[in-house]
Amino acid sequence: MTTTKGLEGIVATTSSISSIIDGILTYRGIDIDELAEKATFEEVAYLLWYGKLPNQSELDQLLSDLSANSAIPTAVIDQMRLYPKDTNSMAALRTAVSSLSLYDLSANDMSRDANVLKAIKLQAQIPTVIAAFARIREGKEVISPKSGVSIAENFLYMLTGDKPDKVAIEALDKALVLHADHELNASTFAARVTVATLSDIYSGVTSAIGALKGPLHGGANEAVMAMLDEIGSLDNVESYVNKKLENKEKLMGFGHRVYKNGDPRAKHLEKMSRALGEITGNMKWYDMSIKIEEIVTGKKGLRPNVDFYSASCYTYLKIPRDLFTPIFAISRASGWTAHILEQYDNNRLIRPRAEYTGPVNQSYVPIDQRS
Ligand code: SDX
Repeated sequence: MTTTKGLEGIVATTSSISSIIDGILTYRGIDIDELAEKATFEEVAYLLWYGKLPNQSELDQLLSDLSANSAIPTAVIDQMRLYPKDTNSMAALRTAVSSLSLYDLSANDMSRDANVLKAIKLQAQIPTVIAAFARIREGKEVISPKSGVSIAENFLYMLTGDKPDKVAIEALDKALVLHADHELNASTFAARVTVATLSDIYSGVTSAIGALKGPLHGGANEAVMAMLDEIGSLDNVESYVNKKLENKEKLMGFGHRVYKNGDPRAKHLEKMSRALGEITGNMKWYDMSIKIEEIVTGKKGLRPNVDFYSASCYTYLKIPRDLFTPIFAISRASGWTAHILEQYDNNRLIRPRAEYTGPVNQSYVPIDQRS
């Protein structure tokens, strides 16, 4: 038996959803660079689920289905009111998404049509859950979703109660496009492992949220912002980063298992961070980020990943730091559910082996003879 720590380099499944080949990321064969410039998040979600871009009437139908399914049960809102106010937002999301299944009469209907509808429903409800949680913990009224607006606009609206401006909507929409799918990343793999037992789609997405929460995965965007806050100013960047590197500590938002020459999504977020800095008249977060990148790439050869510049972008959009990873989940819900549907379509239980490294030929020792 051969083992690879962290399954590095192991091809664990086939998939026709997204690919990373020679450092180029595509969704259904379309380069992410093109989608980032031209597509809306809803078009991308359709592309991931159905394997093709929607025509106008298909997109209209999806927008109307998303709107029709975006409200969450009152019982789930009432439960959220009972969560500790300082609870981790990803833990809250994980629990609330699991709860949603209790109120979905089709939760255990495993037909394809029912699962596609549940994918749309989860995509529509996750932003509502996050915004509701964010308001409840501040003692504010929960705002119901609007119909006829994009997921990006709706989320910003439900968070603040104000109509978001065009720049903010477009920036968030682009961030959602960039995070939507990424081949067999840890959370998507977790979702596929869960549903390969023929468990339901809610269980798959709940597993995925749990995996995304960690700082080696989606939790890194929040950790990047914590680092920027800790550094505090451009003048402190050099000494802070050098110290981290000398101590062989990880710099959040850098490195990637698959990309060794740079994450193709990072440049779009870098550009967005610069533009938002200029628009808001506050270049601080962007300038600090650029300087960190110069040092880390110069000294370690490590490049920023998707999480690095998303931190400053979301800060410019005035989104609370602990909602950064939940926003990643809003976007990745499209990829998770596309992978879950693909897994169901060609399922076999995922059950690898472990190479045993423990003791052998041991006997049971009665308790009174144990040291
Ligand atoms: C995401 O896979 C995906 O698709 C994920 C994702 C997605 O879209 O779903 O792209 C999103 O999760 C991005 C990654 C977010 N995480 C971070 O930013 C956390 C910081 N980065 C790392 O911990 C690390 O780079 C990982 C977790 C991203 C990758 O881990 P690997 O492949 O197991 O690499 P490794 O930890 O074995 O590192 C290899 C070497 C080591 O040095 P040596 O021991 O060989 O001398 O590179 C060094 C590491 O110490 N290294 C870093 C570093 N990342 C790697 N050193 C300092 N800072 C870092 N960030």
